[in-house]
Amino acid sequence: MKKIIALGVVVVIAGLVIAYGREGLDLYRLMSFMNTSSEARDADEGHWPRLTEVCVGCHGRQGHSLNQNYPNLAGQPAPYVAAQLKRFVSGERASPTMAPLAMSFSDTEIKFLSEYFARQSAVKNVTFKPDAALQAKGEKLAKAGGCVACHGEGLMGHDQFPRLAGQGHDYLLRQLNDFAQGARKDPSGSMTAVVSTLSEDDRKALAEYLAALAPLAK
Ligand code: HEC
Ligand code: HEC
Repeated sequence: MKKIIALGVVVVIAGLVIAYGREGLDLYRLMSFMNTSSEARDADEGHWPRLTEVCVGCHGRQGHSLNQNYPNLAGQPAPYVAAQLKRFVSGERASPTMAPLAMSFSDTEIKFLSEYFARQSAVKNVTFKPDAALQAKGEKLAKAGGCVACHGEGLMGHDQFPRLAGQGHDYLLRQLNDFAQGARKDPSGSMTAVVSTLSEDDRKALAEYLAALAPLAK
């Protein structure tokens, strides 16, 4: 059987080269490239219709958001993503956008989505152009505030602690303000304590620094 397929492939290539010259061969190469990449995507994201397609419009392809308002999910620790999705369902974390969506997922789907996004590499937030003075102020505040103690080396996140490096600017600022105003609470109360020492200007400077911080390679 394999021999017949191999012979068939040779005949098709020869036919394409005769009929279309080099362009035919290039066309064949393009087709096999598309086949291999769709096989790779099936292995990573599951078969069509893919659950991850639902997230693309807001969180970007592979969780690389192109909008500072929507969080990057790429490289976010799986336990953190799963916990947030469950918190959207229970209403402990309020989001009119995420709540109805998260309610439609089974536990297996939540597990799949969390592991999928955790596998993706975090990339630099290239669409954000920081203000140098604010960024420098934010860096000092992050050091003084001991953010790495919980959010990990390079602020890359682990376990229940989210990655902050390269996150969307407007999203970060909104979260810091929400913690400050009590609109978002984390179960440990850590973030409420952290932001209680920060002024509105401090929160702006931190968001500037974190959004511009290049994520470490995995
Ligand atoms: C219509 C837009 C939209 C779609 C589609 C969407 N999200 Fe979201 N998502 C949001 C917004 C907005 C937030 C931020 C909510 C907030 O400010 O607290 C968010 C937040 C999240 C968070 C929390 C991130 C963090 O850093 O805490 C997770 C996890 C998440 N979404 C997962 C998903 C997954 C998985 C999908 C696809 C199955 C998806 N979202 C589809 C808009 C969307
Ligand atoms: C004692 C541990 C601790 C420290 C220190 C800490 N954080 Fe956090 N932070 C957390 C936890 C836990 C969460 C997740 C909360 C949740 O599950 O809702 C979080 C969440 C966040 C978020 C929301 C991220 C997202 O994707 O939604 C931001 C922003 C943040 N922290 C910024 C900071 C900054 C800036 C500092 C330093 C000034 C800091 N944190 C210090 C524990 C900590």
